[in-house]
Formats: sequence, structure tokens, C-alpha cells
Amino acid sequence: MPNILKITGLEKTYNSGSKELTVLKNINFEIQKGETFSIIGPSGSGKTTLLGLCAGLDQPSAGQVELCGQNLSDLNEDQRAQLRNKEVGFIFQNFQLLPTLSALENVSVPLELQGNPQAEAKSKALLEKVGLGSRLDHYPSQLSGGEQQRVALARAFSNAPSILFADEPTGNLDEETGNKVIELLFELNREAGTTLVIISHDLELARKTQHILRLKGGQILTEESSIAH
Ligand SMILES: Nc1ncnc2c1ncn2[C@@H]1O[C@H](COP(=O)(O)OP(=O)(O)O)[C@@H](O)[C@H]1O
Ligand SMILES: [Mg+2]
Repeated sequence: MPNILKITGLEKTYNSGSKELTVLKNINFEIQKGETFSIIGPSGSGKTTLLGLCAGLDQPSAGQVELCGQNLSDLNEDQRAQLRNKEVGFIFQNFQLLPTLSALENVSVPLELQGNPQAEAKSKALLEKVGLGSRLDHYPSQLSGGEQQRVALARAFSNAPSILFADEPTGNLDEETGNKVIELLFELNREAGTTLVIISHDLELARKTQHILRLKGGQILTEESSIAH
């Protein structure tokens, strides 16, 4: 199986004032197309920084990121944005819905901007699938946390991404709601055949994926196949 993400010798150092802080050191791993993968580690271990580098939102201090066969350092910012729009989906801990758009618009507007003629119909179908068919016109402030994250799921899958990054997707949800969101995430993922990368501090959640990469203090502790698979 070909890889969809290949990380080689990755390093990230932040300069804040006179201080240098190395938050990722010598990171190497590969994710194969279609697999489920998790990156776990305690708070501050560099997970979100690593995600930003993998998705080309941020640039490494050293090392390479190959995403969908493209070396991100060969691309300019516009080209990286294009690659993201086409190939990458995101789910964030704090949902990141646009507050002035309805649930339906949060899903359909990105598709409309991409010129998709079926934007609205497709968005409605996805929202129905995540159980929000009766909440299409609700604004994020009128939705519960779990409902907002389900809108975010519909949005993330709407452009059929090749790879989906979910950063602490249940971090702002109670356990029961979080479990339902995760069930939906895996269900949508199975149907779409997306490569799924879950970033979390939660080992129980990570065990639902085929591979687990453990980070600590900016370095890889272990990489293993999950017991459940
Ligand atoms: N923009 C930034 N400037 C300086 N330091 C940062 C920045 N972003 C993150 N850090 C630091 O990098 C480390 C890793 O952060 P982060 O990647 O958010 O970890 P995690 O997601 O695992 O909690 C932390 O010590 C954090 O304070
Ligand atoms: Mg984080």
C-alpha cells in the first residue's frame, strides 16, 4: 500500500523572544493510504504542532513532509492551500464552525466556494446522516457541543478528503457524547475509505485505530499496531 504521509527527520523549534524552544525532534513515520492512525501523548508533547506540520499549515525547522506524494517544501503557500482544500479534512476540539452561518451553510459554503453544483443537496444528505436533518437552519450557538461536532464531521467529509486529521475531537465533549461522535467518525470514515489520523491524549480512543504513535517531550516513544486490530 502506498503511503499518503511520510515524515522524515522532522524538527520544530519555536523562537519566542530570546528563547528557543525545540518542541519536536527527529520525528520519522509513515501513514499508509486508507489506514487509521493515532498520535497520542500528554498535553504539551507536540501533537498539535506535528499536525500543523503534517497538513502544511506550518513549516518545519528541519526535515521533510510528503503529503499525497508531494514534498511540502517544494510548494508555496498557495499550492499548499490548494493541496489541503483538495485532499485534507480537519476536525478540531473546539469545532470551529462559523458562528454566522447555519448548520447547512457551514457544510455547504466550502463546497460552493469550490464550485460544486450539488453543494446544498450533498450537505443536506451528510447532515441527515449525522442525525441533524432537523437542525439544518440552526446556528452553532443554538446547537449542543455534540451537535456542533457532528456538523463539523459532515463538513470534514463533504469534499471527500484523502486524509482526515482530528485533533482531540472529543476534548470538549462529555464521555457519552464523545463516544457517539467517535462512532459516527469511524462509520463515515469506513464508508468513505479516508485515511484517518486522530490526535489525542486518550489511549482508549487511540486503541480504535490500527496504528498508535506515542509522543513524549517532542520525541517518538513508540510506534505500535493496536491490540484491537
Ligand atoms: N506558536 C508557538 N510558539 C511557541 N511555543 C509554542 C507554540 N505552539 C506551541 N508551543 C509549545 O510547543 C509545545 C507543544 O505544544 P502542542 O503542539 O500544542 O502540544 P499538544 O498538542 O501535545 O498539547 C508546548 O510546550 C507549547 O507551549
Ligand atoms: Mg494539542
